[in-house]
Amino acid sequence: MKRDLLTIRDLSPPEILRLISRAGEMKAQWSQGSFQPTLTGKVLGLVFVKPSTRTRVSFESAVYRLGGHCIFMTANDTQISRQEPLADMARVLARYVDAIAVRTYAHTDVEELARYASIPVINALTDLYHPCQILSDLLTIKEKRGSLDDLCVAWVGDGNNVAHSWINAAAVLGFTLYLACPKNYEPRAEILEWGRSQGKGKIISVNDPVEAVRQADVLYTDVWASMGQEAEAEARKEIFRPYQINKDLLAAAPPHAMVLHCLPAHRGEEITEEVLEGPQSVVFDQAENRMHLQMALLEWLIQENRRP
Ligand code: CP
Ligand code: NVA
Repeated sequence: MKRDLLTIRDLSPPEILRLISRAGEMKAQWSQGSFQPTLTGKVLGLVFVKPSTRTRVSFESAVYRLGGHCIFMTANDTQISRQEPLADMARVLARYVDAIAVRTYAHTDVEELARYASIPVINALTDLYHPCQILSDLLTIKEKRGSLDDLCVAWVGDGNNVAHSWINAAAVLGFTLYLACPKNYEPRAEILEWGRSQGKGKIISVNDPVEAVRQADVLYTDVWASMGQEAEAEARKEIFRPYQINKDLLAAAPPHAMVLHCLPAHRGEEITEEVLEGPQSVVFDQAENRMHLQMALLEWLIQENRRP
């Protein structure tokens, strides 16, 4: 049966750990020159309605390294721009390609594509979730920290799509997640409730960023205005000012804490230049791991869907 990755909730803990482990193995084999392509002749369709640097290029490079081919489409390149139903596009693309990765606004759009496509559909970011980001961040944390046991992550900033995926990951894997967000910019209540209802890990909302980072192994932030929220960007700068990751906030965290940011970063807003470029920041290793994790993800999803 085909599998999709629309949210981290689609995966079991062993599946997440296997993806991280396989990604690490592929990364090592690639650097040693012993990597054997496993998706020769396979095709990935990328449908991107929002801009991207990392996600697009890491998916394209991932599929080429695996021996496959990639077709990149923006909304304007396709008949979606002329109101072709997503259900039709899903059924047509499924006859040409082996998996589709989609970046768009409404999460319901990737759900609809997944419902109608007989091939795996991967969420490459929606307004609600960014699961590929968090899977590769877990690889980065495992590499840097040695394990994911007793992990404590502090999210500081907007309760956005990336924060929602962290909530899902904490609930599925069972680790501690502190969320420090301004009032009215917290993660969606139903996502928090779902996370807490799973009975694994601890998901703690606080107002004070210092309280969030005090025991953190990882400090994490993201832009204050996500794609689609450009009109709110100026107003948000004032509201979010106390939620900046800067040297004072970092000093309140344990000395071993590392700083992650999914990028792109706005220096001087959600994070200072000093912290982003400082010794505790791992953001460029983090960005690299998008590709390694997605290689493991594509291999798994496409092989899983292989017909007898
Ligand atoms: N982190 C991330 O998804 O970056 P892009 O928007 O550049 O793909
Ligand atoms: N929250 C950001 C993440 C970008 C990778 C956005 O949706 O724009």
